[in-house]
Amino acid sequence: MANEVNNFQDIISHCKEYGYVFQSSELYDGLSAVYDYGQMGAQLKKNLRDDWWKSMTQIHENIVGIDAAIFMHPTVWKASGHVDNFSDPMIDNKDSNKRYRVDHLIEAFAETIDKIAGDALINEMEQLLAKDDFAGLKTLIENNKIKCAISKTSNWTEVRQFNLMFSTQIGSVAEEADTIYLRPETAQGIFVNFLNVQKTGRMKIPFGIAQTGKAFRNEIVARQFIFRMREFEQMEMQFFVRPGTQMEWYNYWKDTRKKWHESIGIPTEKLRYHDHVKLAHYADAALDIEFEFPFGWKELEGIHSRTDFDLSQHAKYSKKKIQYFDNDLNAEGKPYGNYTPFVVETSVGLDRLFLTIISLAYQEEKWTKEDGTEDSRVVMKIPAKLAPTKLAILPLLKKDGLPEIATELMKECKKHFHCFYEEKDAIGKRYRRMDAIGTPFCVTIDHQTKEDNTVTIRYRDTMTQERIPMSEVRTLVEKACKG
Ligand code: GAP
Repeated sequence: MANEVNNFQDIISHCKEYGYVFQSSELYDGLSAVYDYGQMGAQLKKNLRDDWWKSMTQIHENIVGIDAAIFMHPTVWKASGHVDNFSDPMIDNKDSNKRYRVDHLIEAFAETIDKIAGDALINEMEQLLAKDDFAGLKTLIENNKIKCAISKTSNWTEVRQFNLMFSTQIGSVAEEADTIYLRPETAQGIFVNFLNVQKTGRMKIPFGIAQTGKAFRNEIVARQFIFRMREFEQMEMQFFVRPGTQMEWYNYWKDTRKKWHESIGIPTEKLRYHDHVKLAHYADAALDIEFEFPFGWKELEGIHSRTDFDLSQHAKYSKKKIQYFDNDLNAEGKPYGNYTPFVVETSVGLDRLFLTIISLAYQEEKWTKEDGTEDSRVVMKIPAKLAPTKLAILPLLKKDGLPEIATELMKECKKHFHCFYEEKDAIGKRYRRMDAIGTPFCVTIDHQTKEDNTVTIRYRDTMTQERIPMSEVRTLVEKACKG
């Protein structure tokens, strides 16, 4: 465990050193649980988002994408239940005044005791959470003598609910100002546009609406780097189905989404399902796809069968009819029917996905060379199709016409994928830097290139090198990036 924690700290430092992730407003000592993506990170994030978008809106002919605003009418959050229900049970330590999410406090304690006792404790906690038994949760904390990490005391307040939504004011004149919320999930932007999309896109059930975008939650225990943030990005898809068919589609998406994670290079054994014991206020079935992060198994994506809750609530609060007229029911010999569609949702956090890919990719390697000396490197084995930079083009020397040949190759390749040109430093040093940022291919242009138009290509993962015609570089990289 100690090694894994150290390794996680190394990953965080590496992300900063190589332009992947920076603490937000670092110049002013940072803002807790808010992060900025640097030049490499922004591109990796975009590649992940693009792959997800393609898998939803291009591969599935019956899924379309939208881009709804972050600000929404305040009644949206009343209708969705977030004003009344989007809260977590919290407890404060009276000596340190530190506030904890009850489940996080108990989970962190469970990790410090032996596995059987820890599992039993989590099980008991889940039962109490499912019943909203706050007094029982406090007793559980007291009986286990769980202490505050700061004050080291067990002097706790009662367990209370705490709403996670951020609010702000809209309007330029104070008296006219109205309280609005920063969306805590992107899903509601899809629900309120259900009729717009269904009608303008002539969509027939079953069909889906996908979107990616920022969501905001005032997380109390924000920790583990970009795993739990106050501002983060979601990639969500709402799949609208006939009432009664939701479990069929729930199972379809459960399977399809896990396969997608595998398709971007996450090993099967690092993924598992976790069925929810306590269902959210809108769900009749729910599960998490969990990933084994360096700090344990945690939720990566949620699959929820949301029934007709959201559309019905928006119909009720807006006093508008939100229904679907199902022509096909007649063709099947059933009576014509208007109904409120049921929804199966897939919701993955882009930042968590980013952390997943980075945790898998980061490796520290050591080996003994042929001459008996030790060597080492830090390498990010990001799958080629996701890597921010695909190819580094490196003239061996800054003279003899080698930069000119390299520039020509750069000109040809950069139209097709991200390339990096570098002529400074010894070639070994340049290779190591490309390993550290995760560039899967390096080509070196040397004097032989001038004679026979071949280059040396070096493969990041194996460090092997071979000579290939320069004319084949582009195709080789493109083929690898297709996956
Ligand atoms: N619309 C359903 C919904 O929002 P959720 O399980 O609360 O469901 C979905 O969130 C996904 O969003 C999670 O699986 C996780 O990947 C991501 N997520 C949620 N809260 C997050 C946070 N504070 N920081 C980073 N990602 C978060």
